[in-house]
Amino acid sequence: MARHITAITDLTTGEIDELITKARDIINHPDRYQDACRRKKLATLFYEPSTRTRLSFEAAMIELGGHVLGFSEAASSSAAKGESVADTVRTVCCYADIIAMRHPKEGAPTVASLHATVPVINAGDGGHNHPTQTLTDLLTIQMEKGRLGNMTVGLCGDLKFGRTVHSLITAMCRYPGVNFVLISPEELKVPSYVKIPLKKDSVPYTQTTSLTEVLPDLDILYMTRVQRERFFNEDDYIRLKDSYILTPEKMELAKKDLSVLHPLPRVNEISVAIDQDPRACYFRQALYGKFIRMALILKLLEVDA
Ligand code: NCD
Repeated sequence: MARHITAITDLTTGEIDELITKARDIINHPDRYQDACRRKKLATLFYEPSTRTRLSFEAAMIELGGHVLGFSEAASSSAAKGESVADTVRTVCCYADIIAMRHPKEGAPTVASLHATVPVINAGDGGHNHPTQTLTDLLTIQMEKGRLGNMTVGLCGDLKFGRTVHSLITAMCRYPGVNFVLISPEELKVPSYVKIPLKKDSVPYTQTTSLTEVLPDLDILYMTRVQRERFFNEDDYIRLKDSYILTPEKMELAKKDLSVLHPLPRVNEISVAIDQDPRACYFRQALYGKFIRMALILKLLEVDA
């Protein structure tokens, strides 16, 4: 039976720790892994735009000595002719050993997993989940902070539609001593289903509309883009898109060892002047995404160096 990753909860915290350890070993000894996936093929089925997720998956497989195939937009696949996800996946299983799928519909990778004989990885499904971005975020926090618990984590921006935030909250509430500060406009608050594990395990969290008020308390600031493509109404997007803009002046309020993360792409929510600030981690984060995906591919294909 193939093992699928459709949500971050498909991995135990022990397995996440192992993936982080493996990614760090790959960073330190890339040559050891260069043939680990020889003759294996990764299919990237991307029905939605992507830069980092798709290219880091593909770079990951290439650096493991494997090959990649796939499509980067629904329009160039048979979805444009009306083919179902189930039929596409049944077909791709004839050609590939592992699948990474991004889809605008929530749950599409789960549907795919029900019809797949090879591992399916959710590379982002609508406004729902993005487990491999969370693995990327956790590796980044571990590398920057040297720990995953005992910290105050601020999540700022579009917490309603931002799938990376949903998966990150779900993962981080499993580590002890994490305190969440949820910073968003009223209309873009975290959906209530995402808060269920916080309530169940009495994980402390506060909700606010003000970034500047809470910035001095944060160890991690996770900025997000307002998800234009998920809005029903362009006027609402225009009204909300610049709710938070992190500037060098605001960074003066923050701790000296704050880590600023962003899944990217950035639109306007972090001033480019902050890119020079050593607290800005988001481009290092993009690099870590490749290494953690290498670790995940190795795990799901059950191969090692
Ligand atoms: C994110 C996504 O696709 O959800 N990007 C990514 O995978 N790094 C964030 C976003 O698009 O805003």
